[in-house]
Amino acid sequence: MTTYKLFVLPGDGIGPEIMAEAEKIAAWLTSAGIVGFEIEQGLVGGAAYDVHGTAISDADMARAEAADAVLLAAVGGPKWDGVPYEVRPEAGLLRLRKDLALFANLRPAICYPALADASSLKREIIEGLDLMIVRELTGGVYFGEPKQIIDLGNGQKRAIDTQVYDTYEIERIGRVAFELARKRRNKVASSEKRNVMKSGVLWNEVITALHARDYPDVQLEHHLADSLGMQLVRRPKQFDVIVTDNLFGDMLSDVAAMLTGSLGMLPSASLGERNAKTGARKALYEPVHGSAPDIAGKGLANPIAMIGSLGMALRYSFDLNDVADRIDRAISGVLDKGLRTADIAGAGKETISTAQMGDAILAELQSSLG
Ligand code: NAD
Ligand code: IPM
Ligand code: MN
Repeated sequence: MTTYKLFVLPGDGIGPEIMAEAEKIAAWLTSAGIVGFEIEQGLVGGAAYDVHGTAISDADMARAEAADAVLLAAVGGPKWDGVPYEVRPEAGLLRLRKDLALFANLRPAICYPALADASSLKREIIEGLDLMIVRELTGGVYFGEPKQIIDLGNGQKRAIDTQVYDTYEIERIGRVAFELARKRRNKVASSEKRNVMKSGVLWNEVITALHARDYPDVQLEHHLADSLGMQLVRRPKQFDVIVTDNLFGDMLSDVAAMLTGSLGMLPSASLGERNAKTGARKALYEPVHGSAPDIAGKGLANPIAMIGSLGMALRYSFDLNDVADRIDRAISGVLDKGLRTADIAGAGKETISTAQMGDAILAELQSSLG
């Protein structure tokens, strides 16, 4: 059995509750001899700030660098609203993404058949939905310089964020999208705002040229980002792979989450470039949702996005597509049995806790693999 180093960062709010469920599954996979995990735990976000005064320590960054994969739950919360901007909880997550060069964020949105009525949209709009948002994760307005607030001295301040993209950044995320599309339904929708932004003009040019040169077999469409947001709630099943920048990808993936019923359903993978010699790549796996401070500590959180993120680690870091498929089927099976955490239950319906959902998914997985 191959053994991998998994660096686990539970973070804040519901983070520790949902991470415990993913760890249960990882521990069982190891004890059953399916895949070995050496698990180390670190601190990120507010949890790290409370101990180290920073959102992630250099020592934990080094452990993240050394791991085969990082699993992160969520960061942030009102407790840290007043801390300096540089050390706010979210800065820990952004440093991990930037320093590990995790430029490609894959955010799949699948509507499980049993949940077709949990979405705020009509069943026929979302039934059978299966799309993949490919979000550029280390560039754009998240990291562009200058990024500052200047005191103009007349009682006014000026806030500046800078949207920057270089050709190579657009090209490499475009490649990820086209390659994924070839293994799916062969369609890419690229999204920017070329009607307003220079970065949108370049994005469109680079994706168009890359497509013509290397991926003419894939169907490509261009959508203005505002219009794509509208299409996502109007007719989401028209999409297969959506490729977009850091900020638009952040917003559009929260929208896509609600098509599946709840933010608590969406996993993600953040991937770096493959090492040309070893084929290995840095990777971090995390739910799309945040730390849900409103329900933290109550056993109400849905652990499916977190468990799905472990599944994505098996798929994209450890080449265990079969086990990853079984995790997805275990999730689907539990939903088919009518088991629901509160976020996907619907008003007045019976619900189970975070740990009960984790246990049910593990039991389903054990019966398929045991
Ligand atoms: P959120 O995603 O934490 O919560 C939005 C809503 O969705 C809340 O009502 C919450 O209860 C619900 N929700 C989210 N995850 C759920 C789950 N697993 N099960 C059931 N319900 C769930 O977004 P927010 O409230 O805007 O942000 C809270 C904090 O999280 C902020 O500090 C934000 O910066 C941070 N955040 C972190 C990440 C991350 O760590 N990757 C992502 C998004 C937001
Ligand atoms: C996400 C989150 C993060 C982002 C925050 C917490 C920095 O919203 O992963 O979607 O904006 O990228
Ligand atoms: Mn987000």
